[in-house]
Amino acid sequence: ASDLKGKSGLKDFLAIDDFDTETIKKILDKASEVKALLKSGERDYLPFKGKSMSMIFAKPSMRTRVSFETGFFLFGGHALYLGPNDIQMGKREETQYVARVLSRYNDIIMARVFAHQDILQLANYSSVPVVNGLTDQNHPCQIMADALTMIEHIGQVEGTKLHTDQQTSGCLCWRWEQYGPLMVIIGICYSFHFVCACPKGFEPDKERVLKAHQAGLSKIEITNDPKEAVIGADVVYSDVWATMGQKDEAEYRRKAFQGFQVDEAPMKLAGPKAYFMHCLPAERGVEVTNGVVEAPYSIVFPQAENRMHAQNAIMFHLLGF
Ligand code: CP
Repeated sequence: ASDLKGKSGLKDFLAIDDFDTETIKKILDKASEVKALLKSGERDYLPFKGKSMSMIFAKPSMRTRVSFETGFFLFGGHALYLGPNDIQMGKREETQYVARVLSRYNDIIMARVFAHQDILQLANYSSVPVVNGLTDQNHPCQIMADALTMIEHIGQVEGTKLHTDQQTSGCLCWRWEQYGPLMVIIGICYSFHFVCACPKGFEPDKERVLKAHQAGLSKIEITNDPKEAVIGADVVYSDVWATMGQKDEAEYRRKAFQGFQVDEAPMKLAGPKAYFMHCLPAERGVEVTNGVVEAPYSIVFPQAENRMHAQNAIMFHLLGF
């Protein structure tokens, strides 16, 4: 019983909107600091020495796995990869037992799972910090990396206009959960202007838009016109039309999102200073053309790199450094 905790609190990093603006800004500042340290070639600062992390993956990954494992290692820690066929959380063994056992071996747990409820349960029964590496509801580490990337490239982000194709609706939920919090952090922290473009029927839930308004975001626009959405945007952000777990809907979504592909035309409308972002992996020729991904205004690779720096800062925060 001593292993059992109450409701998961801020010992974990499960969703951006669990945190106040001050903490998010502090973590983003730390991300810039630890990034500079690694870029300087410093390899003797090892605060994670003697610490270990279990990484639970119920789904495939490149960026999340490699960035967590490499980042934790570069600061002295040891990360263990537990793939879909390893511990089989919730199948071979109940989530609460996984949490309670791993907490006795590890200092921190990172998990990529299908149902958000599973990570809540994992955090609830874990006595060490749990980090969300993607659930069906959100991807907070990606949001932090995106925020860091925008801050680095745009510098002064106050008043910046972000356009996103709200492409993976239903998964709209996934997209909305991803960008809803992004709006909250960027919008509240940095007065961001957010425009979501999506086909009819794929709009984010009205209640959630209202919630974002109530959280202090005055500049949120939802439109079905991708051309109108990109005009004057500082960042054009796209994502896959069908994400993991939605492959049976891929054909239907591909039809619904005709006209929402990001090619050179919307980038021209956005203007000469606009950046293109995508969390990757991208389906080139579907939601974005190869030309846009490879263009000088594309910052998808610095964005991918920042996954590691943002996550390192999150781990520093959770482990008390
Ligand atoms: N963006 C992202 O989470 O990439 P992976 O699925 O490769 O981890």
